[in-house]
Amino acid sequence: MTDSYSLLILPGDGIGPEVMAEVRKVIDWFQANRGMRFDVSEGLVGGAAYDAHGAPLSDETMAQAQAVDAVLLGAVGGPKYDNLDFSVKPERGLLRLRKEMDLFANLRPAQCFDALADFSSLKRDVVAGLDILIVRELTSGVYFGEPRGIFTENGERVGINTQRYTESEIARVARAAFDLARKRAGRVCSMEKANVMESGILWREVVQKIHDEEYADVELSHMYADNGAMQLVRNPRQFDVIVTDNLFGDILSDAAAMLTGSLGMLPSASLGAPAANGRPKALYEPVHGSAPDIAGQGKANPIACILSFAMALRYSFAEAQAADDLEAAVEKVLAEGARTADLMGPEGGTPISTSAMGDRIIAALAG
Ligand code: NAI
Ligand code: MG
Repeated sequence: MTDSYSLLILPGDGIGPEVMAEVRKVIDWFQANRGMRFDVSEGLVGGAAYDAHGAPLSDETMAQAQAVDAVLLGAVGGPKYDNLDFSVKPERGLLRLRKEMDLFANLRPAQCFDALADFSSLKRDVVAGLDILIVRELTSGVYFGEPRGIFTENGERVGINTQRYTESEIARVARAAFDLARKRAGRVCSMEKANVMESGILWREVVQKIHDEEYADVELSHMYADNGAMQLVRNPRQFDVIVTDNLFGDILSDAAAMLTGSLGMLPSASLGAPAANGRPKALYEPVHGSAPDIAGQGKANPIACILSFAMALRYSFAEAQAADDLEAAVEKVLAEGARTADLMGPEGGTPISTSAMGDRIIAALAG
C-alpha cells in the first residue's frame, strides 16, 4: 500500500488554468500507471479568487495550503485587475501563501534540454547538458532588514536598506541546500561577499559549520557572488547546487535561467520547514506569469508547469524515478521536434497547441 500525496492545485488566472489542465493529465497518468495516489483538491487564487469572493486568497484556501503536502500554482494577474487596490491585487494572494507558509528557500533550476541548446545566448558546447539548481533565501536579507526608508540627513535625502541575517536564517537555508544536493550530484557552492560585507562573513561561517557538523558527505565550496556571476556565464556546468542570499539569488537565478532559453520552460519551487511527516512546506509554480497576450488561445507552453510538478515529485514526494521519467519525456518530445509557439526558432515550422504538447508528453511517458 503506497502512501498518498496531498496536493492543492491553484490554477489562477490567464494561461494558469490552461497549463494546469496538462499537469492534471500527467497526475492522472502517474495514478493510472505507477500506482501513485494523489489526493488532489483545487482552489482559487489571484484574480479568480477576487472575482469569486473579493479577496485574492480566502482564509479557507490558506488553511488548505497549510495542511497539504504541496501546493501547485499556475499564475496570477492580468489587465482586468491592474486597477484594483493594492491590498486585493492578485499577487497579494501569492505573497500571502509564501509568507504564511514561511517558504524561505526558493529553488530555481537551470536545465538545458539538448534540443533547445541553440536558443541559449551562449554557445551550445557551454550549455549542453547544463543542470544546476540555485537556492535563494527568500524571507530575509536586504529586502526585509530594518532600518529602511528614505530619510533626510544634513539637508539631503538618503535611501537606506539593511542587509540582516541571523544565524538560524542562514542555517535553515544551508540545510535545505545540502539536503537538495544529496538528491543531486552532491555539491554545494555558497555565494556571498564575505570580502566586503559582515553579513557575508557570518553567512560563510554558518554554512561551513552546518556542513562540517551535519553534511560532511556533501562537497562544499565558497565563492564571492560577483565571481559567481562571471563563472555562471563562463562555465555554468561547474555547478550543482548554488546557495545564496535573497538579493544575490534574485539576480543570479534570473541570469542562470536565461542561460537555457524560454520563459515557458522554467519551473520553480519554494520550500519551508519540514512538517510532521518529514515533507517540507512547499509551493511549486512556473516562473512565468499569466501571459494575457496569449491566454485562451491554446498557445501556452505547459512545460514550465509540468516541470514544476516534476520538482514536486522529486522534492516533496521523494519520487525521484518518476521525476526523472517526466523530465526525460519532456526531453524526448523536444528532441522529436514538438514545439509550442514560444519555442519556434528562426527555421519556422508549425507550432502545436497547449493540449497537444501535454498529450505528446503523456505519450512519451507511456512509450
Ligand atoms: P508573463 O510571464 O505573463 O509573459 C511574458 C511574455 O512571455 C508574454 O509575451 C507571454 O505570452 C510569454 N509567456 C509567458 N509564459 C508563457 C508560456 N507558458 N508559454 C508561452 N509563452 C509564455 O509576464 P508579464 O507579461 O510581465 O505579466 C503578465 C501578468 O502576469 C501580469 O499581470 C503580471 O503581474 C503577472 N505575473 C504573474 C506572475 C506569477 O503568477 N508568479 C509572475 C510574473 C508576472
Ligand atoms: Mg527577479
